[in-house]
Amino acid sequence: MFSTVKLYIPFLKYLRKRIPLLILLFILILGSTVLLIITPLILEAFLKNIRMQFATGLLLPLALLFLLLAVARPILSLWEAYLGDNISLLATNELRVDLTLHCLALDLRFHTQHTPGELVERVDGQVATLNNLFSRLVLSLISNGVLLIGIIGMIAFTIHALVGLVLALFTIFSIVIVYMLHSKALPLWKEARKQRAEMISFTEERLSGLEDLTSSGAQSYVLRELASQSRAILRTFLRGFQAIMRTRNLLRMFFDLGTVVALLLGVLLFWGHAIPLERVYTLFYYTTLLQVPVEQIVEQWRSLQQGSGSIANIHELLAEKSTIHGGDRPLASEALEVAFERVSFQYIEDTYALQDLSFVLPAGKTLGLLGQTGSGKSTVARLLTRLYQPQSGTILLNGHPIQDYALADLRRAIGIITQEVHIFNATVRDNLTLFDDSISDDVIAQALEQLKLTDWLKRLPEGLDTVLSSREQALSAGEAQLLSLARLFLRDPQVIILDEASSRIDPATEQLLDQALKQLLQGRTAIIIAHRLQTVMQTDLILVLENGRCREFGEREALLQQPDSAFATMYRLAAGEVRQ
Ligand SMILES: Nc1ncnc2c1ncn2[C@@H]1O[C@H](COP(=O)(O)OP(=O)(O)OP(=O)(O)O)[C@@H](O)[C@H]1O
Ligand SMILES: [Mg+2]
Repeated sequence: MFSTVKLYIPFLKYLRKRIPLLILLFILILGSTVLLIITPLILEAFLKNIRMQFATGLLLPLALLFLLLAVARPILSLWEAYLGDNISLLATNELRVDLTLHCLALDLRFHTQHTPGELVERVDGQVATLNNLFSRLVLSLISNGVLLIGIIGMIAFTIHALVGLVLALFTIFSIVIVYMLHSKALPLWKEARKQRAEMISFTEERLSGLEDLTSSGAQSYVLRELASQSRAILRTFLRGFQAIMRTRNLLRMFFDLGTVVALLLGVLLFWGHAIPLERVYTLFYYTTLLQVPVEQIVEQWRSLQQGSGSIANIHELLAEKSTIHGGDRPLASEALEVAFERVSFQYIEDTYALQDLSFVLPAGKTLGLLGQTGSGKSTVARLLTRLYQPQSGTILLNGHPIQDYALADLRRAIGIITQEVHIFNATVRDNLTLFDDSISDDVIAQALEQLKLTDWLKRLPEGLDTVLSSREQALSAGEAQLLSLARLFLRDPQVIILDEASSRIDPATEQLLDQALKQLLQGRTAIIIAHRLQTVMQTDLILVLENGRCREFGEREALLQQPDSAFATMYRLAAGEVRQ
């Protein structure tokens, strides 16, 4: 029991800022509890007045008072619900922000191990469990406790201590029974939650591959899989629901029995002249009031326990730490020299993606990186931008290990265009500036002019305001690369890595790309991972990778002159292809 409570304690800090609201909420809950307890007393007084047939003038005020309380209670609970949800949404949204920032700060190793769908479920879905805790649970547990004690106390004092004792025992007994019955439903809820997380991650993954799935006619497979997963969830949910309903109905029967016992006791007391007739009614009323708090206490305690799985998951997520840390060496603002010194790296144990790789790329020079698919080209880019940490060897920037520089500085200094350029559902302007409002349209126009992309911009229906969202406006691979070149140009990094898309590009766009690239490379150190030989013909140096190892490294011109070099062979092959 304590371990469940302990899990929740760290999250209470999100409530600290909202203590005045919480106090108000507590007063409201207590107020409505008191109203509930005094209502039967008014009814009792009313009945007494009728029975004694004296002072009938009191009947009307009593009826009005009863009416007033009947109206006040729902108003109070409405206010309670509003306040409770308000507090909890504010608190859990703060936690969501913290979790999102935490996930974003984690390195790529973490992100390749966890699908976006899984993270969405954790950051959003599981935090929702806390919603309940923050809004009602704790206060409601207390108020139901107060209500139970209040009712039993009232019975003991106003009716008979013995009846109070009997009902107290009855209540404890029923709490234990309901708690035990609930245990049956709990594993089913857990299972359903797990299945749901799996389905979300399945859907997310399939949606991101929509184009491939549609073109290969795999929709029916996906739909079938989705249907079977949904069916499994439905089955588990239904079983859980049935278990809960069984408990609820059993509890109801149990309480009906309790009411009969209470009535019997009341009648006996009445016959023994211990209490007046209307008090028998009050006893009846109080006994029926007992059922709701018993049910709620068990359910709330259960949901605390049910939530503990989610909470443990959130703790686990928060405990994840990035293995990549930066230093505080200032980074020079001119072009930078990049060097790899015997760098080896494995994504998976015992499989080298890069092995013993060494090269020096002097400041302001460009390196063309070639190699077959899977040879480790993109990995070089990922290591240089510190998305991963090599297992051995050093990567140097201006002679100092890259770990010495602050991560933010490093990522500002190194601009990368990955193989899959991400186009955001936003205007061309936002896609170029990456939502940085401080970059004016003039600066954008200048950059596009320099990259000779003004004509391309003119072709867009609404210029910079064109929204890249609907399918018709989606960019071709070449256009996406153009956009990403302009994006980098605006950011003005000192080192550029271009991981060229392997898709074929039409000759007109190709020409635009080559021109833009020439502009972009001026005065910058650059690594160009090229699938088209034409692109590397602009570079100073060439590095050919083979299975993660350096096969060839040297000046482009010199390599081209050596007929037996790998680069010259590739060049001849490509030229031959063109001629055929
Ligand atoms: N996240 C990852 N987890 C495990 N292995 C990976 C991961 N990313 C890449 N690899 C493996 O590492 C090797 C090098 O991959 P890399 O992406 O660097 O190749 P590449 O030269 O860029 O290929 P391409 O020309 O197809 O882009 C490949 O064998 C690949 O399967
Ligand atoms: Mg690649």
